[in-house]
Amino acid sequence: MKFAPLSLIALALGALATPTPGPEVSEVETRDILSDLGDLLDVVQHVQVIITLDTLVTNLASVVITLKNDLIFPLHINRIQSKAGVNGTTYAEFDATFTNFTIPPFGKTANSTVIPNVNLTQGAIASLDIIPLGVIDIQKASLDLTVALIPIKGFPYAQTQIPTTYDLALS
Ligand SMILES: *[C@@H]1O[C@H](CO)[C@@H](O)[C@H](O)[C@H]1NC(C)=O
Ligand SMILES: *[C@@H]1O[C@H](CO)[C@@H](O)[C@H](O)[C@H]1NC(C)=O
Ligand SMILES: *[C@@H]1O[C@H](CO)[C@@H](O)[C@H](O)[C@H]1NC(C)=O
Ligand SMILES: *[C@@H]1O[C@H](CO)[C@@H](O)[C@H](O)[C@H]1NC(C)=O
Repeated sequence: MKFAPLSLIALALGALATPTPGPEVSEVETRDILSDLGDLLDVVQHVQVIITLDTLVTNLASVVITLKNDLIFPLHINRIQSKAGVNGTTYAEFDATFTNFTIPPFGKTANSTVIPNVNLTQGAIASLDIIPLGVIDIQKASLDLTVALIPIKGFPYAQTQIPTTYDLALS
């Protein structure tokens, strides 16, 4: 586990030393922070998929994701747009915004709220095929987040083989 990207510390100290709120973040600082975030591995620890009887009709499921934060600052997640699937085939897509999704620093984890309207793009029935695999890949995601007071939009993220469980609430 790795903590404490130095550029983030410098950035935070810089932010504290700045008397006026909302300083413009230079391109260089933004690039530093992005590269530190890019070093993050396995942010997504777990995906729980909730499938109901309605899902079979609407092809919409719900998910709860568990995220881990190896940074030294709390990670505020504002929005996630994601495509997930297996073997390069996309099975699920969602676009979720969050008002209060913060993952504490130093390797702590936090669960999202229940994310509704997750589109099972291959259809619910075809999606049943991937349940036994117990893993899913985030093929392409875009994150809006705030870390060390710096808002970052559209941070690209991908991760393979995420442990995934399915709650079939079919009764
Ligand atoms: C994924 O690809 C591997 C290797 O080609 C194959 O063995 C496996 O059956 C595939 N799984 C699914 C769910 O398509
Ligand atoms: C935000 O989330 C935290 C941690 O789950 C919780 O303790 C707090 O009550 C929440 N605040 C609001 C305004 O929902
Ligand atoms: C997240 O939810 C799971 C149950 O789905 C629970 O076991 C775990 O403790 C939760 N984690 C946090 C950090 O709240
Ligand atoms: C779900 O995805 C399918 C396939 O991409 C698309 O045709 C459909 O309009 C989407 N449904 C919703 C509710 O976005």
